[in-house]
Amino acid sequence: LVQGAMTKLVPLAPDSWIPGGVPDPLIARKHGLIGKPVSRLDGALKVRGDAAFAAEHRFADMTYAALAYATIARGRIAAIDTAAAEAAPGVVLVMTHLNAPRMATPPVFGSSPSAVGPADLSILQDDRIHWNGQPIACVLAETQEQADHAASLLRITYGAEPSTTTLAGAKANGIEPGLFMGQPLLNEIGDAEAAFAAAPHKVDRTYRTPRHNHNPIEPHAATLAWVGDELTIHDASQMVTQQAQTMADTFGLATDKVRLTSPYVGGGFGSKGLWDHQVIGAAAAKLARRPVRIALSREGVYRVVGGRTLTEQRVAIGADADGRFQALIHTGLSVMTPQNSMPEPFILGTQAAYAAPNILLKVEVARMNMLANTFMRAPGEAVGTFALESAIDELAVELGIDPVELRLRNEPDKDPTNGLPFSSRHIAQAWRDGAERFGWHARPPRSTRREGEWLVGVGCATGTYPYYRMPGAEARITLTRDGDGVKALVEVAAAEMGMGTSTTTAIVAAERLGLPLDRVEVGYGDSAIPGAIMAGGSQQTAAIGAAVIAAQTALVGDLIKLAGNDSPLAGLSPDEVGCDDGGLGSLADPTRRESYASILGRSQRDSVSATKAGSLPLETMHWSMHSHSALFCEVRVNTVTGETRVSRFLGSFDCGRILNLKTARSQFRGGIIMGLGMALMEETQFDERNGRIMNPSLAEYHVPVHLDVPEIDVIWTDIPDPHAPMGAHGIGEIGITGVAAAVANAIYDATGTRVRDLPITLDKVI
Ligand code: MOS
Repeated sequence: LVQGAMTKLVPLAPDSWIPGGVPDPLIARKHGLIGKPVSRLDGALKVRGDAAFAAEHRFADMTYAALAYATIARGRIAAIDTAAAEAAPGVVLVMTHLNAPRMATPPVFGSSPSAVGPADLSILQDDRIHWNGQPIACVLAETQEQADHAASLLRITYGAEPSTTTLAGAKANGIEPGLFMGQPLLNEIGDAEAAFAAAPHKVDRTYRTPRHNHNPIEPHAATLAWVGDELTIHDASQMVTQQAQTMADTFGLATDKVRLTSPYVGGGFGSKGLWDHQVIGAAAAKLARRPVRIALSREGVYRVVGGRTLTEQRVAIGADADGRFQALIHTGLSVMTPQNSMPEPFILGTQAAYAAPNILLKVEVARMNMLANTFMRAPGEAVGTFALESAIDELAVELGIDPVELRLRNEPDKDPTNGLPFSSRHIAQAWRDGAERFGWHARPPRSTRREGEWLVGVGCATGTYPYYRMPGAEARITLTRDGDGVKALVEVAAAEMGMGTSTTTAIVAAERLGLPLDRVEVGYGDSAIPGAIMAGGSQQTAAIGAAVIAAQTALVGDLIKLAGNDSPLAGLSPDEVGCDDGGLGSLADPTRRESYASILGRSQRDSVSATKAGSLPLETMHWSMHSHSALFCEVRVNTVTGETRVSRFLGSFDCGRILNLKTARSQFRGGIIMGLGMALMEETQFDERNGRIMNPSLAEYHVPVHLDVPEIDVIWTDIPDPHAPMGAHGIGEIGITGVAAAVANAIYDATGTRVRDLPITLDKVI
């Protein structure tokens, strides 16, 4: 079992009383851990280097893997000359499609070309090449250096076939309707084109966003071993249960023959799933009969792990003289591979953003031979809001209306596309609070905002990201006698990418159980734990919370039974009982109570355990549920070089109850920083001649560094959603959403130059 919570914290003073039933005590509680700044419980382990990441595990007699990558976009392998590689020092195995074990095609979560959906590719099973960079051989050696060297000695001859590696060529081949998770990316209310044509005020613009590659600080890696027909994998994963299942399916094993652990992950952002490297590593280990560590180089991540695909988006808004939208059109094109089933769904954030009687939202798709695209933080919303929120800024200029005011005038009173009421939407308050704190309305006129050779400008934008809660989450809570009291172990099949999930889970469980935080340990990141959750869609914390609430409720029932007729609790039903101060007590009569340790002691038990699945996420069927942001940015643009420096940024969020103030603030800031990169520097350079990524390194693919990032101010409404299990909405992806538009709008304010093509590099500004 993987143990996340090991560092002792000084517990805060417990509440005098916390009810254990309805309404949710986590919402009602005023003085507990919820909403306090709690440091990551695994933080010290990581800082000390005591937390073993995927590529830091070792097995006895372990070998090291290196991959060779195809250099053509489409075709077949005519021949591979492996002689020199096999003769190189330390080489244990050279594996190609000719000698790889037979494996099934990984379903759903498997294989790079298809992050979602059934269209998938087999791995090292034939001579076909589907993208430039596809792994086509694996070398195992006694050291990493020997493996890398031997892989460089492979001589590969290709039979190239016609490929599509230009955007123009992809469009010429044909455009098809986009699907996301099986749903058409099409939404039509009224007659938007006709209403747009008739509107007195309008903007109609095209915005472009480039390919983005994933760059978590920890490159993808796995250390794995076969023991008989059982496979153990130490992986870097944000979908532990699903990956273990997929590996079992791929190798024809029963699910319980694969044990996958991943307690520590150095960032995922949508990329830490199953790709070719884990399957190749396990296949090579099987063939060599030795354990394998397969750690992708940074270049390897660019070859094997898909990123965000490019988009071309049209946003057309027609408004009346007061700025009220009559038509909202957001359509365009995304590009993916022949096998891929995930276009960038850039209209998702537009669906519930603004009131308009006529709405047209549509994503279409063209196909290219390239590395498959996948999820990247706020897939859809991150780039879709760049287009939408830039267009709104353009309309505000055209109308002469303040852009904050223009947005507030178009605030919907129900979901404009599905008609559902909002469960909790306080975006107007987020705008008001943010504008006041940023000094938005007190900003000096544009003409006075020049400092030497720097032009100063301010811009704003809003973001939205849906509340999801996947079903399948289970929690197992075990109370064990420990000295005079008890300790709790809370196990959930969750994944932790570094954002603080295990800490927040410990907080939630401690609150529910009425135990100090240092009495609660969380097990997670292990496929042996029942249930299934994944860190994706900003929904994991809500899913875990619902499961913990359910398991704790079941545990209370079991404890009352164990307490029996001799207990002061005798005769009480579970919903008449609450948890606090290390035990159970009557909600009506606080003198009727018994400690957990006493109940266990009298019933001669060392421990008691309850497992329960969380409720079905029915709330999302009744309500339109979203996280919201109001973003304010100040930039300085140099009149000599054209470079942009972000000098101030404020994120004002409305995301329901904030559970852990400290990790939440980091999530918001991290998302905003990723958005600054999207605005100003991130771009995968794709060679249209041959489909090869040209800048597969952090030296040439730029992301923000410390000097690019100002102090980022973050505030939130902290208004609990009465329809979410903990009152909390997800906060993993809302941070990046809208940021690029806020920056672009500030650059326009500073310079009068409207850049509609990300990233906004200096050549586009002057
Ligand atoms: Mo995400 S893009 O749901 O990790």
